[in-house]
Amino acid sequence: METQVAIVGAGPAGLVLARLLELRGVSSVVLEARSREYVEQRVRAGVLEQRTVDCLDEAGVSERLHEEGMVHHGIELRFGGVGHRIDFNALTGGKSITVYGQQEVVKDLIAARLESELPLLFEVSDVAVDVSRPSVSFTHEGRSVELSCDVIAGCDGFHGVCREAIADVLTVYERVYPFAWLGILARSKPSSEELIYANHARGFALHSMRSPSVTRSYLQCSPDEDLDDWPDARIWEELNARFELDGGFALNEGEIFEKGVTPMRSFVVEPMQHEKLFLAGDAAHIVPPTGAKGMNLAIADVEILASALESFYASGDTSGLESYSEHCLRRVWRVQHFSYFMTSMLHRPDGQDPFEAKLQHAQLEYVCRSEAAAKSLAENYVGLHEV
Ligand code: APR
Ligand code: PHB
Repeated sequence: METQVAIVGAGPAGLVLARLLELRGVSSVVLEARSREYVEQRVRAGVLEQRTVDCLDEAGVSERLHEEGMVHHGIELRFGGVGHRIDFNALTGGKSITVYGQQEVVKDLIAARLESELPLLFEVSDVAVDVSRPSVSFTHEGRSVELSCDVIAGCDGFHGVCREAIADVLTVYERVYPFAWLGILARSKPSSEELIYANHARGFALHSMRSPSVTRSYLQCSPDEDLDDWPDARIWEELNARFELDGGFALNEGEIFEKGVTPMRSFVVEPMQHEKLFLAGDAAHIVPPTGAKGMNLAIADVEILASALESFYASGDTSGLESYSEHCLRRVWRVQHFSYFMTSMLHRPDGQDPFEAKLQHAQLEYVCRSEAAAKSLAENYVGLHEV
């Protein structure tokens, strides 16, 4: 089998890359370890920056996103029993975010790929990459296949094989946080029009949504939290406690139909490219979810890679490919900082040092009182255009 770009992984990074390459006349084969059903059902984040929406528009896969996605013009920061709105519209010159589940983005991209009748192979196993030839070998439907290509795009997420294949040349930067998020999906009407990020003595909580009748909420918990200790009634009680307001507040409750624990880490490898292998998305970096950046950052990487490949195939110009890693890493580190900033401002580690607690409170008050500080949060949250 032969192609120009072998794409390992059909998450947002791999699928957006495949689509952008299709529109630029570059051939690709996408290889995915899991089944179509699995990747379409996997519950993940759900906030799209304006530039991500623009990219999906350009890719021609945003029809359902515009019908069903929920456009938000701000968020609320809640602490000390009071809510403070961060008004994105006013602070960023009219920018907004769109709430639309990552698996919905993935469904739309898979449908477009299949409609174009381009290769997307699910349930491949034994994937191994040879970065210097370059080629990818794998097993599909019981047959061993060797796919030769010009370039390999490692879009296989944090637990994939591509990063491992070049581990010898990589420097790892990492921070693991002493807490995690317990996330739920519930059949209940959102209790607020916008997302609420709460800092409370009992820990962080986030109220988000997926539709006018489905909410997504998260509670800070310990990384080894046992879900069996969290019957629905305890989850609602804890969420209500953390979202308390001086004038009273109660969440709309409903059937919880999904529960999971997400660990929190910051992780970057440098460089993001070696020989003919280009890493993109979670394969190269992980951000804690507090800034809602994981999917946006993955898509920003592949936009850069798609343009570099377009120039390479159009005129043999390799400059975009050579600067790929450096170009991506500028945004990666800006977003790492923002995600770390949001995480540290909003969570209460067990046994929090009282000095740290005072600093955290001073920071929260500052972003809510100072227009300059609020602007900085807002421009990062809606997504910086250029970094
Ligand atoms: N071979 C083929 N596919 C693989 C392999 C492999 N050896 N290993 C993993 N995969 C697949 C996974 O099953 C997954 O579908 O690669 C895909 C990687 O997708 P994501 O994990 O969604 O990563 P990415 O596309 O970079 O998107 C980043 O996902 O984790 C969230 O919060 C993160 O929103 C961010 C986004
Ligand atoms: C979500 O809706 O899943 C979500 C929203 C905001 C975040 C993280 C996750 O910061």
